[in-house]
Order: sequence, then structure tokens, then C-alpha cells
Amino acid sequence: MPLCPIRLDGPRPNSDELANDVRLGLGRRPKHLPSKYFYDARGSHLFEQICVQPEYYLTRTELAIMRDYAGAIAAVLGPEVLLLEYGSGTGIKTRLLLEHLQRPAAYMPVELAHDALSASVAHLHAALPELEILPVCADFTQPVSPVQPRGRRRRTVVYFPGSTIGNFDGADGVALLRKMRAEMGPNGGALIGIDLKKDPAVIEAAYNDAAGITAQFTLNLLMRLNRELGADFDLAAFRHRAIYNRIAGCIETHLISVRKQDVHVAGITAHFAAGEAMLVELSCKYALEDFARLAAEAGLRVAQVWTDAERLFCVQYLVRDAGVAQAGAQGCDGAR
Ligand code: AVI
Repeated sequence: MPLCPIRLDGPRPNSDELANDVRLGLGRRPKHLPSKYFYDARGSHLFEQICVQPEYYLTRTELAIMRDYAGAIAAVLGPEVLLLEYGSGTGIKTRLLLEHLQRPAAYMPVELAHDALSASVAHLHAALPELEILPVCADFTQPVSPVQPRGRRRRTVVYFPGSTIGNFDGADGVALLRKMRAEMGPNGGALIGIDLKKDPAVIEAAYNDAAGITAQFTLNLLMRLNRELGADFDLAAFRHRAIYNRIAGCIETHLISVRKQDVHVAGITAHFAAGEAMLVELSCKYALEDFARLAAEAGLRVAQVWTDAERLFCVQYLVRDAGVAQAGAQGCDGAR
């Protein structure tokens, strides 16, 4: 199967958008910068390093679930699936899934970082040369225009691994699930990796690794703003802090200003008090019933849950609330 060129959907991210978001975020109380800007080339590389830190249980646990249940998951999804992935990470989980799917119609990764997308597509094409790959360079939070794969498609399944759904809190999470609902169509589904609530000490350790990689990852955001917006953040004057909020069920990651200071960025001067906390990321954790409630708000129903023995993480298959009987989600052996 020849490799399709990468389709460019929607506007390219530009420094105007970044500058607007930064001005807006620094005007909020507390100050708040969006975590989507973590992922420049250095940030993406640091995130890959986070994923292999001993404290960061999420990646290895999800991978173990996929290794144990890829066959069962593929049986639930059924044959001739168009797999639409939001984001495209290192691709190991995706590859496992695709290898188990019966006659997959095509694989469509939607990823904003062009270099990361072309690297993962080339890698996957080398491993699965018969698979039709339809890469789209776009922001997955924006509508994806439909495609017609060459092969027969029985259903579309949105794949969203990695607990990235946890970086969208409340209304944003529901909006993203609604978007999945629209894009999966009446007969489709969504396969989502979700981090579960557990001992807060275990969660906090995952976001405060001893090697300090997560701290570098967080501070890299300021380095990016200095480079791309000509800002003058003094990196030594901010420190990383990640604390689990038990009531909200979220890791709240902040950059703390270690002293009173002014920063010039995107045409404004931002004043920081000594000890002031600027929110840069939320990583939400769920009990199974929490996520079922969130899914229901988006018109989705949990059809199947697969989890590890320690119940650290889970992979869930969601279908539309109406028309559930068509989703092919019966008679399978998940761990729930
Ligand atoms: C991408 N996302 C699911 C990660 C998380 O766990 O929230 C990003 C991350 N931030 C710090 N460590 C990892």
C-alpha cells in the first residue's frame, strides 16, 4: 500500500495564537498557561523521557493492559475498523492494536506536530505495509473532515490513549467526548486510556520524578515562550510544583515564582508576587463511576473496561448511548 501524503487540516498554529493565549492566560487569576504548549521538539522529547521514569506508572501500565488484552479489545471493536487516533505518540500501543484488528479499513492519526506525525507514520508503514494510513496534520480538538478509506469500513473507532483525556477538565472533557461521539458515527466507538484514582502519594510521585525530568518539562514552557515570543522569563526564578488535589481528583501542576518579578511577554508586562503559583497543567484521575458520568454527559455509554491487576489504569470502550445494540460490544472478556 503506497503511503498517503499528510493532509493539512485547519489553520497552522502560529505565534499570534500563542501570544494571544499567553496574554489571556496571564490576565487570569490565578495565572494560567495552556499545557498544549508544552510540546515543542524539546518538550516532546522530555515527555518521552517522562514516560520511562520509574515513578510514571501510566505508560507502562497502559502498555501492559494493551499487551494482555489487545486480542479481546480487537474482538470488541470488530472487523473493518477505521481507527481514528487523536494524537500520535510513539505508536507502540497503536501498533499492538492494529496488529490485532481484523482487516482494519485504515488508520487515521490526527496530530498537530508535523515532524512527530511523519516519523510515526513512516515507522508504522514499515511495520504494517499493507495498512492504509491517512495522516492528518491538525489540532484534534477541531473537527476532522471525514475520509473514505479504500477498503470496506464497518465502523469508525476514535482511539485516545495515554490519559490525555485527563488534561481536559470538566466542560472541555465533555466537549471532546461529544466531538468523538460525532466523529465515530452511529455505529462507532471510542477507545480511551484513563488514569484511575489511587493512593495520592503514588500519583504525586509520578509528577515529581526523582530525576527531575517533569520539572524540566514544565519549565520548558517558559523556555519556549522566551524563544518564540521573545519573552524574558528567568528560568531560575520559577520552580515546578505538582500537587494532587484530592477533592478535584487532579494533579495540579504550577510554576511558582520564587521571587517578586516582572516578565515581559507578548507585548505585556506580567507582575509576579513572591511565591505566586501559575497553573500550567491539570491531569485528572477518575474512579470508574466518575468517568461513566462524564461519558453520559456526552451521550456515551461505557461498553467495556479493561484494567491491570492493581487497578492503576484502564482502557475503556465507549459507544453512543442510543444504538448500543449495533456497537458489537457483547460477549467479550474484559476485566471489569
Ligand atoms: C500527556 N498527559 C497525559 C501527561 C499527564 O500525565 O498528564 C502529561 C504529563 N505532564 C507531566 N507528566 C506527564
